[in-house]
Amino acid sequence: MGMTNKETRTNIGEVAEGIWRINTPVAIDENTAFSFNQYLVEAERPLLFHTGPRQLFPVVRQAVEQVMPCSRLRYVGFCHMEADECGSLNEWLACAPDAVPLCSAVGAMTSIGDIASRPPKVLSEDEVLDLGGRDVQWFDAPHVPHGWDNGFLFERSTRTLFCGDLFTQPGEGREVLTEGNILGPSEAFRQVMDYYAHAPETGPTLARLAASRPQVLACMHGSAWRGDGERLLGDLARALAA
Ligand SMILES: [Fe+2]
Ligand SMILES: [Fe+2]
Repeated sequence: MGMTNKETRTNIGEVAEGIWRINTPVAIDENTAFSFNQYLVEAERPLLFHTGPRQLFPVVRQAVEQVMPCSRLRYVGFCHMEADECGSLNEWLACAPDAVPLCSAVGAMTSIGDIASRPPKVLSEDEVLDLGGRDVQWFDAPHVPHGWDNGFLFERSTRTLFCGDLFTQPGEGREVLTEGNILGPSEAFRQVMDYYAHAPETGPTLARLAASRPQVLACMHGSAWRGDGERLLGDLARALAA
């Protein structure tokens, strides 16, 4: 679908059937390009996964509106409490009157139950949520890569894992969907900016994610990836253990 805002170069493209990546390039500093992605899941009860930071709300909304009116959104989900994950949550709840936040039990207890303008729907480990025509499953993943409240969503018909900050790549993430090497760039970036908590449960958590056998990894920073997700999550676990 392409560029939706010339000023910010926000753009939208499909990564799996009815699943759209909204990408905005940003600069960490004058030498380091980066990007923020949100994912829009078309369904009878549509879902936006990650809101983007509050300051990007107008351009992310503009991109969503290319696919559907924002008022149709029923769920606004995210991995954990940080501005790029959920900074504009209340702005989305204001423009989508039937939408509720989706988060982990820890997320609701520590933050979202207080700061969200409507109570969240809490998802427990392995819980499946029917979006109408497709469903998503929640995996708790505390501290992997960071955030006590962290978790991931998995869309089962396209086997798309919304993997949040896992495989964070530097750069603008121009390619919507790649089959190339994302582990190399993300591991190189981690050497410079280590965003992992390195919690004791990291290996077993990645193994649980791998067991879902994802075919698309919907990364929050950089390109989405298509391929053998079970293998790539195993490669990530080995790189982190090394
Ligand atoms: Fe994060
Ligand atoms: Fe993030």
